[in-house]
Amino acid sequence: MAMDYTKLKKSVIKKNKKYLKFQRKNHVKRVAKLASQIAITHGMDPQKAEIAGLAHDMARNWPKQKVLRYIESCNFPLSKEEGDNPYMLHGLAAALILRNQLGCKDEKIFEALRYHTTGRAYMSKLAKLLFIADYIEPGRSYISGKWRKKLLNKSLDTMLEKVTKRMIKHQAEKRKATHPWTEELYKEIMRHE
Ligand SMILES: [Fe+2]
Ligand SMILES: [Fe+2]
Repeated sequence: MAMDYTKLKKSVIKKNKKYLKFQRKNHVKRVAKLASQIAITHGMDPQKAEIAGLAHDMARNWPKQKVLRYIESCNFPLSKEEGDNPYMLHGLAAALILRNQLGCKDEKIFEALRYHTTGRAYMSKLAKLLFIADYIEPGRSYISGKWRKKLLNKSLDTMLEKVTKRMIKHQAEKRKATHPWTEELYKEIMRHE
């Protein structure tokens, strides 16, 4: 049976109300809006993009232990890269809430939520879109309006390339380690250039 996205969206908003702080709620609304705009421009499903945007940070305000316990309770096997970097697990927790509690069987949405923090090589179009929208939404102070506007005129893969490069550069400037999945994504991009 096809997923009822109107119903799913309502359930996601309800969860956000329960779990998210005010600022985070505004962030996910902006991501959802931008994600559906990008979807329309690139011939993708705007409803799915909107849901991914609304749901991606559902567990972002949970304490780390709660996120870990929840994933454990779902018996979901963590990859080494995820186990070593608990910060990114709020994406996987959100994906599991959607699958196990809200009945969303869409693998593309699951993947998009799971990888939204770091990106990953060989992502689906929806996962690429969410990764981009989360990084450049209008509330991000590190992105200028001019840069965003220019970027939004590019193809999905060019946007992905620019965002990935910018993220890695930004992390280097802040002396933060780049996650192995982001490195893999970067390598994939360079192979295709
Ligand atoms: Fe996030
Ligand atoms: Fe986010």
